Amino acid sequence: MIIRSHAAQPASAPVVDNWLDAGWADRELRADVSVGLSSRPKELPPKWFYDDHGSDLFEQITRLDEYYPTRREREILEREAGSIVAASGADSLAELGSGTSTKTRILLDAFAAAGQLRRYVPFDNSEATLRAAADELAAGYAGLRVHGVVGDFEHHLGRLPLDEPADSGAVQPRPPFMVMLLGGTIGNFAPAKRPAFLDVVAAAMRPGDTFLLGTDLAKDLGRVEAAYNDAAGVTAEFNLNVLSVLNRRLGADFDLDAFEHEASFDVDNEWIEMRLRPTRAQTVHIPALEMTVDFAAGEHMRTEISAKFRPERVRAELGAAGLVVQQMWTDAQSDYALTLARRIRRP
Ligand code: SAH
Ligand code: TRP
Repeated sequence: MIIRSHAAQPASAPVVDNWLDAGWADRELRADVSVGLSSRPKELPPKWFYDDHGSDLFEQITRLDEYYPTRREREILEREAGSIVAASGADSLAELGSGTSTKTRILLDAFAAAGQLRRYVPFDNSEATLRAAADELAAGYAGLRVHGVVGDFEHHLGRLPLDEPADSGAVQPRPPFMVMLLGGTIGNFAPAKRPAFLDVVAAAMRPGDTFLLGTDLAKDLGRVEAAYNDAAGVTAEFNLNVLSVLNRRLGADFDLDAFEHEASFDVDNEWIEMRLRPTRAQTVHIPALEMTVDFAAGEHMRTEISAKFRPERVRAELGAAGLVVQQMWTDAQSDYALTLARRIRRP
């Protein structure tokens, strides 16, 4: 049986801190776009996909027939949530890139069933999506304290509020936290940026805390490519949406009909590479940056990579950050892995 609420404990309103003030996000967007579109090949960083419409499109992607990662990850969670919670020894959960927190409920149910559900700390750069999820979860789980943070992986993880300051200001002992990153999101970082990211995550944790990481595994190329080239064109719309974000926020004049979505597997790097390709030569104006950008016909612009992992690599990269793998679970087809690693004191 799944225990969702305890009548004796009233739901408490979530707290949401926004660390992304509007001016900061604007400066960040401008810097990313001016650097990315002056590079060869041109590039746009993926974090700008997720405006309200983009978050909505991503939610649709997770339900597509071709897009297996979400279903596989859910399969593992449904089968193993109890073991994961028991192995973690945690009573609280922090989630990086939490989005709509849909799969999170499977774990929160397991924490509640084990009688150890204290705090949930979702962290995402998409404010509307995070607030909606925080409200729903705070209302759905009596006694759970939800403390959401709107922030950016690259700048704000060092201040993840896992510790609650005591009245005296002193750091108090607390039960272990589990920090998690689902959805294969780790694969969207450039490999060169993954070690620093994992170091920051590990530094925000205390020894004894655990990290639960979801990774898509290396597999048959055809199935991977199909997951990023769905027949209904939702992934194409998601990819093109980044151009609407630039049009709206920077006054740019990208013609969305003049670009095509492309996603193919790079065998050497073992990642899917998402690109936007202009269908004809064109010039785009970006008034907010006083920038004019020429595109040759067929010139690639990279928007995202999604790395596919081998278990040894997951183990090695976590280990390098002082996160020692305790257990790894895969779905029945070994398409996807969830890895639980414990933070140790580093020498
Ligand atoms: N965890 C969810 C969503 C994964 S999509 C799932 O498994 O389905 C990736 C999430 O990370 C999105 O919600 C997006 O808004 C967030 N995100 C992307 N780049 C980010 C960044 N730089 N900082 C913070 N959040 C980011
Ligand atoms: N983390 C997801 C993944 O790598 C993100 C994603 C899914 C995505 N489909 C996409 C990113 C399409 C860009 C375009 O699978």
